[in-house]
Amino acid sequence: MNILFLTSEIHPLIKTGGLADVSRSLPLALHALDHEVRILLPNYTSVQSQLPDVHCILENFPEGLLPAPARLLEATLPDTPLTLWILDCPELFERSGGPYQDEEGNDWSDNPARFGALCTAGAWLAQQAGSRLNWAPALVHCNDWQTALTPVLMKLWDCPVPSVLTIHNLAFQGNFPAHWCASLHLPSSEFHMESLEFHGQLSFLKAGIVHADQITTVSPRYAREIQTLEMGCGMDGLLRRRASALSGILNGIDELWDPETDVFLPVHYTARKLQGKARLKKHLQMKIGLPVRPDALLIGMVSRLTWQKGIDLVLDTLEDWLTDEVQVVVLGSGETEVERQLAHWSSRAPERVRVILGFNEVRSHEIIAGADLFLMPSRFEPCGLAQMYAMTYGTLPLARATGGLADTIIPYQAGSQPVEGTGFLFENADPQDFHGALTQALACFHQKEVWQRLMRHAMARDFRWNKAALEYQTLYQTLLSAP
Ligand code: ADP
Ligand code: GLC
Repeated sequence: MNILFLTSEIHPLIKTGGLADVSRSLPLALHALDHEVRILLPNYTSVQSQLPDVHCILENFPEGLLPAPARLLEATLPDTPLTLWILDCPELFERSGGPYQDEEGNDWSDNPARFGALCTAGAWLAQQAGSRLNWAPALVHCNDWQTALTPVLMKLWDCPVPSVLTIHNLAFQGNFPAHWCASLHLPSSEFHMESLEFHGQLSFLKAGIVHADQITTVSPRYAREIQTLEMGCGMDGLLRRRASALSGILNGIDELWDPETDVFLPVHYTARKLQGKARLKKHLQMKIGLPVRPDALLIGMVSRLTWQKGIDLVLDTLEDWLTDEVQVVVLGSGETEVERQLAHWSSRAPERVRVILGFNEVRSHEIIAGADLFLMPSRFEPCGLAQMYAMTYGTLPLARATGGLADTIIPYQAGSQPVEGTGFLFENADPQDFHGALTQALACFHQKEVWQRLMRHAMARDFRWNKAALEYQTLYQTLLSAP
């Protein structure tokens, strides 16, 4: 089946979070099932320079379709057989800063125009690629708000191709002042509560939820959670109305994340030969300048530093559990105040806390492999990939029981026989519950046999993409056979 896959980030070209990982690994898994996938993404400044074989396949889009001159480039995603279609529109995408924000961390003010263009190009390709480029998609798969206008445009243009929208995070909705509706040439007749409008604004995500043929989220539990008032981000009513077209498919993890072959690690290991992991702990402690202590519980966190990820729970309780038995390393970037408080801890307790601000792929692998315990105290978590990476590396996750975290981590119950579990879960996003789980983890760490058993259970879990790819395949086939 030919699948046009729309995304605003992809590993290793451009990444702010898990969407980039999924945008590489899901198409790869679909390719392994003999599907032909074309991945459409914008040509941000850093993208083209990383691609050796890039060439132009379309010199221009029809006059007036996009807000600025644009071409379509084609290339292969490095180290994969995957074909990229790159929307090259310098006026919108060639600038320093991130994919969504400038260097100061402010959203680009023309984001609706930028991602409106991506959506428009996607819809146009869904309809025209067959005749113009000799490759007709049977289905279009959109991801998050940045691509969520495509299903609307496809409907408006009577495009017969079905669409799927995957919600990776309902909290990011792409809501913009109403005047953007006209700027993006969307018909004003669609600007109402049952279509594009959300509390007086134009909402990319709502539009996609209304108009996509199928909606998925990245874990079954999150698919249920977003239909509740508490976690529906204002869209729960709509999601309940669309419940028959909504399902949750748990993400998988990429084969790049494997402690036996990881290219970023100097030493490798398996569940049967764990010595390598102990060496990586030492390597990490040395590299980041913490005392080399095999006996200390080395706690790692690699995360966007935002409210979603519960980093404030860590900061609010650190004083209580930062004993001599514990070391902490945090890698991340995000809210300025959180970064400031973390940096403060790093200088206040240099023997125990190390904070690395910024985005660092190599260091993220070193921490996930070298730490004993991995923190994800998220308030909500659509899926979460890092906890699955951690388990695969025998690093036990400590997480809040929400979304994909609850769907992937089997909680350890103290005293249970036989010893079962792959990590530690706590219920409420409050300091007591979080602290309680940490105390349990620390007690468990002192029982070496129990800990090792949990490590082996965690490493035995299979989080590869095969199963999820089959679920997507079934969903696509059902859509295509629908009358
Ligand atoms: P989210 O997409 O909500 O940020 P996920 O757990 O799905 O959460 O994915 C996060 C991904 O981004 C993981 O691959 C994680 O290792 C990576 N990541 C997050 N922050 C950093 C960072 N500062 N440096 C390197 N990798 C990071
Ligand atoms: C989002 C979610 C995260 C999920 C990722 C990939 O960024 O916050 O939970 O794992 O998308 O689907």
